[in-house]
Amino acid sequence: MSYELLSVVPWGRSLKEYKAMFKLTNEDIKKEIASFGDGPASFNSEMNKLKNNVTSFDPIYGFTKEQILNRIIETKEIVMKQTEENKENFIWTTIKNLEELEKMRMEAMYNFIDDFEKGKVEKRYITHELPNKTIFHDKHFDIGLSSHFLLLYSNLGLDFHIKSIDEMLRICNEVRIFPILDLNADESSLLKPIIEKYNKSYVVEIEKTNYIFQKDGDKMLTIRRIP
Ligand SMILES: C[S@@+](CC[C@H](N)C(=O)[O-])C[C@H]1O[C@@H](n2cnc3c(N)ncnc32)[C@H](O)[C@@H]1O
Repeated sequence: MSYELLSVVPWGRSLKEYKAMFKLTNEDIKKEIASFGDGPASFNSEMNKLKNNVTSFDPIYGFTKEQILNRIIETKEIVMKQTEENKENFIWTTIKNLEELEKMRMEAMYNFIDDFEKGKVEKRYITHELPNKTIFHDKHFDIGLSSHFLLLYSNLGLDFHIKSIDEMLRICNEVRIFPILDLNADESSLLKPIIEKYNKSYVVEIEKTNYIFQKDGDKMLTIRRIP
């Protein structure tokens, strides 16, 4: 496999956070959802327990449960140290402090780890690297999500992003990307060219969401088919 686990810093969010980040309504969560770059988030596992349908895509699903768990344990301290060093870039209201952050993230990731092998058999976790084509037919899903992947890693470039979003829009009726910031917490330089590209054939909006953690990190990009 060309994808290197050593290049990944696994960090996973929960269903409650996904609902806030993507403004997922009670109606939305009953829809067919595809979630890209989902990594060790517990979104899929928690949604599955509520009998909702999420298919998660990520290259790390090609590794074993043990390999992913080891990598989580290996990198946890690094991420927590980086967050501590940049504490002033976050709003400590919903998440009160570093201890609560670590507890929340570890709970979410252990939830994922417990569900991973069952979810792989049930084809809820699909080993897939954007911008490659997926196995799904056109408009198979209602909503396609990207949390903390597209726009954030702006160094992947515009071409990578356009090809990735094209594939997401091929299989999903709409795409939601959160946040719209890059790794330096600045507005992603790819945001404007992406809006310009999709504005012509889709309804493109930036929406304020209910997620409060990273300063200025409360907005998502939505790209919807024109009804
Ligand atoms: C910061 S994590 C976000 C995890 C999760 N979405 C969340 O918000 O909790 C970014 C994820 O993107 C995945 N990733 C990296 N390159 C990718 C690619 N080319 N296609 C899809 N996912 C990718 C990584 O493996 C990692 O799990």
